[in-house]
Amino acid sequence: MKILVLGSGAREHAIVKALIRTGTPAAEIVCAPGNAGIAQDVTCVPLNANDPAAVTTYATVEKFELCIIGPEAPLVAGVSDALRAAGIPVFGPSQKAAALEGSKSFAKEIMAAADVPTGMAHECSTMEEVEAALDDFGAPYVVKADGLAAGKGVIVTSDRKAALEHAAKFIDMGILVEEFLDGEEVSLFFLADGKNVVPLTPAQDFKRAYDHDEGPNTGGMGAYSPLPWLPAGFVEEVQRTVAQPTIDELARLGEPFVGLLYCGLIVTKRGIRVIEFNARFGDPETQVVLRRLITPLAGLLRAAATGNLETAPDPIFTDEVAITVVLASEGYPDKAAPNRPIHGLHHAAAVEGVEVCHAATVQDGDHLVATGGRVLSVVAIGKNFEHARKHAYEAIGHIKLEGSHYRKDIAKKVAN
Ligand code: AMP
Ligand code: GLY
Repeated sequence: MKILVLGSGAREHAIVKALIRTGTPAAEIVCAPGNAGIAQDVTCVPLNANDPAAVTTYATVEKFELCIIGPEAPLVAGVSDALRAAGIPVFGPSQKAAALEGSKSFAKEIMAAADVPTGMAHECSTMEEVEAALDDFGAPYVVKADGLAAGKGVIVTSDRKAALEHAAKFIDMGILVEEFLDGEEVSLFFLADGKNVVPLTPAQDFKRAYDHDEGPNTGGMGAYSPLPWLPAGFVEEVQRTVAQPTIDELARLGEPFVGLLYCGLIVTKRGIRVIEFNARFGDPETQVVLRRLITPLAGLLRAAATGNLETAPDPIFTDEVAITVVLASEGYPDKAAPNRPIHGLHHAAAVEGVEVCHAATVQDGDHLVATGGRVLSVVAIGKNFEHARKHAYEAIGHIKLEGSHYRKDIAKKVAN
């Protein structure tokens, strides 16, 4: 099956590696635009993944049988709509259905209509409304920009002044002030074909920049899967009370959701609550979820893309556990670092059970260069978390990138 993967991050590298690991020949996969690491595994083409016309022309000429959209930007730009109109099966929702991620108020409307459990929230368009909403819920305050803000739109703080400053920065987009939800966070992905949903396996993301969940929110500094502390029946409950009703409501509105429904959840004392939906695979959770997948990924995603999940096999995951640790450049997430050389990757990849997914890397002659942000995701699989952690941290210890940082506590609490 000829497959085009759009995107250039560690998530897309993990998708490419999972396609190959589960049976798709590397020669049948193309990534656009990809990065220096993905180019070591499959052909990369310098195509603007956010340009619907360019992607559709290329995909039509090259006769791709499946297009997998990694990031949200192409969804927002309408790339999936253009591909679908050209008759190419695409794993990624329409521009309108992707508003589930792009607009927090749209997501809240869908959840209200579908009776999906989520935090109470006030929509605010003036600072006076924000102040009133903060007072209504009290501290700690949760303030969210109502639009795509590259992972920087949310603040959780007990400092009223900081909450107001954050709101003022994004007030033009609209602000959602939400009740604070206390509990463990879970990311659970569902494949969706417009009508049916199929769960993958739960993972936990580490959103804060530093150990012990300190520092600013990031795109995600690490993840692990599975979550041994989840109650029995958790996945089925999320499917029944969250994923299926959400997909049904979108179908009812004439906007069937085809692609990946990312349910960001908090398990509170009063039950499961949705804190966000995304319309795409999560990064870095994908690195651990797909690392454990045994069922052929290409077949699953094509079944979703063509409305045939009912006839697809249920995804099977290995009992082995996976963890990923993200190596970020100096100053991330606040400041951009200059381009710097990376060394030691061969050593890292040689560690038992380890693979390295690239995000912000380019090849400069013989050298691999980091171009800022989240640079690499080191992924380790093992028979238990102690094992997987040992290997992931041994591997990341071999990587030399001036000024870089990573969290030391990924999956620590589940390791013996
Ligand atoms: P979001 O972009 O909505 O996922 O929010 C980013 C992060 O902020 C989440 O991963 C949570 O850690 C935190 N967060 C969001 N909403 C809430 C909430 N209502 N209560 C507590 N923490 C939250
Ligand atoms: N890891 C969080 C996200 O992908 O949005």
